[in-house]
Amino acid sequence: MMFKSISKVVQSEITKVRGISHNKSAIRLFSRTMSPATSSFDTVGIVGLGLMGHGICQTAATAAASSPSTNIIAYEPKEEFLQKGQERITKSLSQLVSKERLTQKDSEKILDKITFTTDINTLGDSDFIIEAVIENMDLKNELYTSLDGICKENTIFASNTSSLSITDMAEIMPNRKSNFLGVHFFNPVQIMKLVEVIHTKYTDPGVFDKVYNWVENDIRKVPVKCGDTPGFIVNRLLVPSLMQAMLMVDRNDATVKDIDLSMKLGAGHPMGPLHLSDYIGLDTCLFIVEGWVEK
Ligand code: 3HC
Repeated sequence: MMFKSISKVVQSEITKVRGISHNKSAIRLFSRTMSPATSSFDTVGIVGLGLMGHGICQTAATAAASSPSTNIIAYEPKEEFLQKGQERITKSLSQLVSKERLTQKDSEKILDKITFTTDINTLGDSDFIIEAVIENMDLKNELYTSLDGICKENTIFASNTSSLSITDMAEIMPNRKSNFLGVHFFNPVQIMKLVEVIHTKYTDPGVFDKVYNWVENDIRKVPVKCGDTPGFIVNRLLVPSLMQAMLMVDRNDATVKDIDLSMKLGAGHPMGPLHLSDYIGLDTCLFIVEGWVEK
C-alpha cells in the first residue's frame, strides 16, 4: 500500500518533467533556455572551471544569455586553468553548434555573457556564487575567508561539493551561515537534468527557495531538496554500487567488460559502473568515500 502510493508520487513527478526524461531531449533544452526569462540573480559568480565548474558556468551563461541584466563572472586563480576552462566551454558550445542544437549567434551570445578573470575581487558584486573547486577543506577555507572579505552583505553562496559537509563550509563565514547552501550538479552538467539543492540547519528558507527557483526557472533543470547528509541523494546510492563493482573486479568475480555490460543491458544504465567511475574521475570517487570514512 505504502509502496503503491510512493510509486504514484514518483510517476507524477516523472510526468511533470516528461520531455526532458532522457539525454537527447535534455540537449534540446539548450534552445529552450535561450527564450526570454526573468532572472533570479543579476550577477552569478562561478569559482573553479574544472570538469564540473566549466559546465555550471556554461549552463548559467546559457540562461543568462536571454536576460539583459544578468552576467556571469568565471574565476580561477591561475591563468592556465582559466584558459583551460574557457576552452572547454568553447568546445562544448561548438559541439552544440555543429549538431545544430544552437546557432553560432547564440553561442557567441552565451560566451559574451561570461567575464573570465583571475582577480577574485571581480566577484565582489555577485548576488550568487557557486564554488566548484577541488575537494580540499583547507583550500575552501582560504577561498571562503577571502570571499567573506569582499562580497556584498546579501550574497548567497553555494558549494557544488560532492564529499564535504555544507554545514562545515557555512561555518567558515559565521555571519553568512543563513546565506549558505549546496547545489550539486552531475557530470556532464550540460546534459544532466538533476540538481540537488542542499540546506543546512542554518539556511534561510527564503535563500533556499531563491536558489531552488533559479535551478528550476532560470537554468531549467530539475531541482530536488535534500538535507546535508553524506552523499546527498544520488551519490549516497550511486557511489557504493561503483565501489562494489571495483571490489568485484578485485576479487576476480567478473571482468570489467562483463560488469559494465550487465548494468547497461540488465539494469538499463546508460554507462556501466566502471566506465562511469572513470567518467566521474577516480580521484573524485576516492574523495567521496574518504569523506564518508572521516565522518
Ligand atoms: N557538451 C555538449 N554536448 C555534449 C556534452 C558536453 N559536455 N557531453 C555529451 N554531449 C552530447 C553528445 O555530443 C551527444 O550528442 P548527440 O546526441 O547529438 O550525438 C549527446 O550528448 C549524448 O552523448 P553521446 O552520444 O556521446 O553518448 P550517450 O548518449 O551515451 O550519452 C552521457 C553520454 C550523457 C554521458 C550518458 O552516457 C550518461 O548519461 N551517462 C551517465 C552519466 C552519469 O551518471 N552522470 C552522473 C555521475 S555522478 C556525478 O556527476 C556526481 C559527482 O558528484 C560525482
